[in-house]
Amino acid sequence: MELLQAIQGRRSIRRYQDRDVPPESVRELIDAARLAPSGANSQPWRFVAVRSAEKRKALRDGTVRFAADAPLVIACCVDLDAYRDVGRLGAEMRANGMFDGVDATTAVFDEFVRTEKPLTEAALRSNCMFNSAFAMENLVLRAHDLGLGACIVAMFNQQIVREILELPDNVVITALIAVGYPAQSPAARPRLALEEVFLKEI
Ligand SMILES: Cc1cc2nc3c(=O)[nH]c(=O)nc-3n(C[C@H](O)[C@H](O)[C@H](O)COP(=O)(O)O)c2cc1C
Repeated sequence: MELLQAIQGRRSIRRYQDRDVPPESVRELIDAARLAPSGANSQPWRFVAVRSAEKRKALRDGTVRFAADAPLVIACCVDLDAYRDVGRLGAEMRANGMFDGVDATTAVFDEFVRTEKPLTEAALRSNCMFNSAFAMENLVLRAHDLGLGACIVAMFNQQIVREILELPDNVVITALIAVGYPAQSPAARPRLALEEVFLKEI
Protein backbone atom coordinates (compact mmCIF):
# COMPACT_ATOMS: atom_id res chain seq x y z
CA MET A 1 0.00 0.00 0.00
CA GLU A 2 1.21 3.48 -0.83
CA LEU A 3 2.14 5.54 2.22
CA LEU A 4 -0.25 8.38 1.36
CA GLN A 5 -3.05 5.88 0.75
CA ALA A 6 -2.40 4.35 4.19
CA ILE A 7 -2.32 7.76 5.88
CA GLN A 8 -5.55 8.82 4.17
CA GLY A 9 -7.37 5.49 4.59
CA ARG A 10 -6.61 4.70 8.24
CA ARG A 11 -9.45 5.09 10.72
CA SER A 12 -9.79 4.43 14.41
CA ILE A 13 -11.66 1.11 14.40
CA ARG A 14 -13.73 0.25 17.47
CA ARG A 15 -15.72 -2.78 16.25
CA TYR A 16 -13.99 -6.01 15.32
CA GLN A 17 -14.80 -9.35 13.72
CA ASP A 18 -14.73 -12.38 15.97
CA ARG A 19 -11.47 -13.51 14.46
CA ASP A 20 -8.00 -13.88 15.96
CA VAL A 21 -5.08 -11.77 14.84
CA PRO A 22 -2.32 -14.19 13.81
CA PRO A 23 0.87 -14.15 15.92
CA GLU A 24 2.97 -13.22 12.87
CA SER A 25 0.84 -10.09 12.40
CA VAL A 26 1.48 -9.10 16.01
CA ARG A 27 5.21 -9.36 15.33
CA GLU A 28 4.84 -7.32 12.14
CA LEU A 29 2.99 -4.57 14.00
CA ILE A 30 5.63 -4.33 16.69
CA ASP A 31 8.38 -4.57 14.10
CA ALA A 32 6.96 -1.50 12.33
CA ALA A 33 6.65 0.31 15.65
CA ARG A 34 10.26 -0.27 16.64
CA LEU A 35 11.51 1.43 13.44
CA ALA A 36 10.12 4.81 14.51
CA PRO A 37 12.44 7.76 15.09
CA SER A 38 13.14 8.80 18.69
CA GLY A 39 15.02 11.55 20.49
CA ALA A 40 18.72 10.62 20.73
CA ASN A 41 17.62 7.26 19.30
CA SER A 42 16.49 6.38 22.82
CA GLN A 43 13.80 3.93 21.62
CA PRO A 44 11.91 4.00 24.93
CA TRP A 45 8.94 1.97 23.65
CA ARG A 46 8.12 -1.49 24.94
CA PHE A 47 5.05 -3.54 24.03
CA VAL A 48 2.87 -6.11 25.70
CA ALA A 49 0.46 -8.06 23.47
CA VAL A 50 -2.62 -9.13 25.37
CA ARG A 51 -4.62 -11.86 23.67
CA SER A 52 -5.63 -14.30 26.40
CA ALA A 53 -9.36 -14.26 27.15
CA GLU A 54 -8.60 -14.15 30.88
CA LYS A 55 -6.37 -11.05 30.69
CA ARG A 56 -8.72 -9.23 28.30
CA LYS A 57 -11.62 -9.89 30.64
CA ALA A 58 -9.55 -8.41 33.46
CA LEU A 59 -8.87 -5.35 31.30
CA ARG A 60 -12.60 -4.52 31.39
CA ASP A 61 -11.98 -3.08 34.86
CA GLY A 62 -9.25 -0.78 33.59
CA THR A 63 -10.28 0.51 30.18
CA VAL A 64 -13.18 1.08 27.80
CA ARG A 65 -15.17 -2.01 27.00
CA PHE A 66 -14.61 -2.03 23.23
CA ALA A 67 -10.84 -2.06 23.78
CA ALA A 68 -10.86 -4.83 26.38
CA ASP A 69 -13.10 -6.89 24.10
CA ALA A 70 -10.90 -6.48 21.02
CA PRO A 71 -9.25 -9.73 19.87
CA LEU A 72 -5.85 -8.18 20.57
CA VAL A 73 -4.78 -5.35 22.85
CA ILE A 74 -1.26 -4.04 22.49
CA ALA A 75 -0.13 -2.00 25.47
CA CYS A 76 2.37 0.59 24.32
CA CYS A 77 4.67 1.17 27.26
CA VAL A 78 7.89 3.08 27.85
CA ASP A 79 10.98 2.21 29.81
CA LEU A 80 11.62 5.35 31.86
CA ASP A 81 15.31 4.43 32.07
CA ALA A 82 15.74 4.57 28.29
CA TYR A 83 16.36 8.33 28.18
CA ARG A 84 18.18 8.68 31.49
CA ASP A 85 21.73 8.57 30.18
CA VAL A 86 21.55 11.21 27.45
CA GLY A 87 25.35 11.47 27.37
CA ARG A 88 25.69 7.80 26.44
CA LEU A 89 22.95 8.10 23.83
CA GLY A 90 24.72 11.08 22.26
CA ALA A 91 28.02 9.15 22.19
CA GLU A 92 26.27 6.20 20.52
CA MET A 93 24.81 8.49 17.87
CA ARG A 94 28.27 9.84 17.12
CA ALA A 95 29.76 6.31 17.11
CA ASN A 96 27.05 5.26 14.62
CA GLY A 97 28.15 8.07 12.30
CA MET A 98 24.90 10.01 12.54
CA PHE A 99 26.73 13.33 12.59
CA ASP A 100 29.49 12.47 10.12
CA GLY A 101 29.91 15.35 7.71
CA VAL A 102 27.19 17.28 9.53
CA ASP A 103 27.56 20.59 11.32
CA ALA A 104 25.85 19.65 14.58
CA THR A 105 26.74 22.87 16.39
CA THR A 106 24.06 23.57 18.98
CA ALA A 107 24.33 26.73 20.98
CA VAL A 108 21.39 25.73 23.16
CA PHE A 109 22.52 22.19 23.96
CA ASP A 110 26.20 22.98 24.53
CA GLU A 111 25.24 24.58 27.82
CA PHE A 112 23.05 21.60 28.72
CA VAL A 113 25.87 19.14 27.99
CA ARG A 114 28.47 21.30 29.78
CA THR A 115 26.51 21.51 33.03
CA GLU A 116 25.42 17.85 32.82
CA LYS A 117 22.23 18.78 34.62
CA PRO A 118 20.23 15.56 35.04
CA LEU A 119 16.75 15.53 33.56
CA THR A 120 13.95 15.67 36.10
CA GLU A 121 11.75 12.58 36.45
CA ALA A 122 8.87 14.56 34.91
CA ALA A 123 11.01 15.48 31.89
CA LEU A 124 12.18 11.88 31.48
CA ARG A 125 8.61 10.65 31.60
CA SER A 126 7.25 13.17 29.14
CA ASN A 127 10.18 12.59 26.76
CA CYS A 128 9.60 8.84 26.76
CA MET A 129 5.86 9.16 26.30
CA PHE A 130 6.22 11.77 23.56
CA ASN A 131 8.61 9.48 21.69
CA SER A 132 6.32 6.48 21.97
CA ALA A 133 3.66 8.32 19.95
CA PHE A 134 5.77 7.92 16.82
CA ALA A 135 5.96 4.16 17.36
CA MET A 136 2.19 4.01 17.86
CA GLU A 137 1.58 5.86 14.60
CA ASN A 138 3.81 3.36 12.77
CA LEU A 139 1.89 0.54 14.41
CA VAL A 140 -1.60 1.75 13.49
CA LEU A 141 -0.55 2.52 9.92
CA ARG A 142 0.96 -0.94 9.56
CA ALA A 143 -2.25 -2.43 11.02
CA HIS A 144 -4.24 -0.68 8.31
CA ASP A 145 -1.73 -1.90 5.71
CA LEU A 146 -2.28 -5.49 6.91
CA GLY A 147 -6.07 -5.18 6.67
CA LEU A 148 -6.44 -4.82 10.43
CA GLY A 149 -8.22 -2.07 12.32
CA ALA A 150 -6.79 -0.37 15.38
CA CYS A 151 -7.68 2.31 17.89
CA ILE A 152 -5.26 4.07 20.19
CA VAL A 153 -6.91 4.30 23.61
CA ALA A 154 -5.78 6.73 26.28
CA MET A 155 -8.83 6.04 28.45
CA PHE A 156 -7.37 3.51 30.87
CA ASN A 157 -6.44 3.32 34.51
CA GLN A 158 -2.65 3.15 34.78
CA GLN A 159 -2.66 1.39 38.15
CA ILE A 160 -5.24 -1.25 37.31
CA VAL A 161 -3.80 -2.07 33.89
CA ARG A 162 -0.18 -2.17 35.01
CA GLU A 163 -1.12 -4.71 37.66
CA ILE A 164 -2.85 -6.87 35.04
CA LEU A 165 0.22 -6.64 32.80
CA GLU A 166 2.59 -7.24 35.75
CA LEU A 167 4.94 -4.44 34.75
CA PRO A 168 8.11 -3.50 36.64
CA ASP A 169 8.31 0.01 38.22
CA ASN A 170 10.42 1.52 35.40
CA VAL A 171 7.86 0.59 32.74
CA VAL A 172 4.84 2.87 32.29
CA ILE A 173 1.91 2.48 29.91
CA THR A 174 1.43 5.26 27.34
CA ALA A 175 -1.71 3.92 25.68
CA LEU A 176 -3.54 0.74 24.82
CA ILE A 177 -4.02 -0.11 21.16
CA ALA A 178 -7.08 -2.21 20.41
CA VAL A 179 -6.56 -4.32 17.29
CA GLY A 180 -8.71 -6.68 15.23
CA TYR A 181 -10.16 -7.31 11.80
CA PRO A 182 -12.59 -4.41 11.21
CA ALA A 183 -16.34 -4.94 11.54
CA GLN A 184 -17.00 -1.34 10.49
CA SER A 185 -15.75 0.92 7.71
CA PRO A 186 -16.28 4.47 8.91
CA ALA A 187 -15.97 7.52 6.72
CA ALA A 188 -13.06 9.88 7.29
CA ARG A 189 -13.38 11.80 10.54
CA PRO A 190 -13.37 15.61 10.43
CA ARG A 191 -10.02 17.35 10.22
CA LEU A 192 -9.03 21.00 10.37
CA ALA A 193 -8.37 22.46 6.93
CA LEU A 194 -4.79 22.89 5.77
CA GLU A 195 -5.23 26.67 6.03
CA GLU A 196 -6.19 26.33 9.71
CA VAL A 197 -3.11 24.36 10.74
CA PHE A 198 -0.55 25.92 8.42
CA LEU A 199 -0.02 29.18 10.30
CA LYS A 200 2.52 30.80 8.03
CA GLU A 201 5.60 30.41 5.90
CA ILE A 202 8.32 32.86 6.88
C1 LIG B 1 -3.38 9.82 21.94
C2 LIG B 1 -4.72 9.30 21.51
C3 LIG B 1 -5.63 8.88 22.44
C4 LIG B 1 -6.86 8.36 22.07
N1 LIG B 1 -7.69 7.86 23.02
C5 LIG B 1 -8.86 7.34 22.65
C6 LIG B 1 -9.71 6.75 23.63
O1 LIG B 1 -9.38 6.70 24.81
N2 LIG B 1 -10.91 6.26 23.23
C7 LIG B 1 -11.29 6.25 21.92
O2 LIG B 1 -12.37 5.76 21.61
N3 LIG B 1 -10.49 6.78 20.94
C8 LIG B 1 -9.29 7.32 21.29
N4 LIG B 1 -8.45 7.85 20.33
C9 LIG B 1 -8.86 7.86 18.90
C10 LIG B 1 -9.32 9.26 18.49
O3 LIG B 1 -10.60 9.54 19.02
C11 LIG B 1 -9.30 9.36 16.96
O4 LIG B 1 -7.98 9.23 16.49
C12 LIG B 1 -9.86 10.69 16.43
O5 LIG B 1 -11.19 10.89 16.83
C13 LIG B 1 -9.79 10.78 14.91
O6 LIG B 1 -10.41 9.66 14.31
P1 LIG B 1 -9.62 8.72 13.31
O7 LIG B 1 -8.45 8.13 14.06
O8 LIG B 1 -10.59 7.67 12.86
O9 LIG B 1 -9.13 9.57 12.18
C14 LIG B 1 -7.21 8.33 20.69
C15 LIG B 1 -6.28 8.77 19.74
C16 LIG B 1 -5.04 9.23 20.13
C17 LIG B 1 -4.04 9.64 19.08
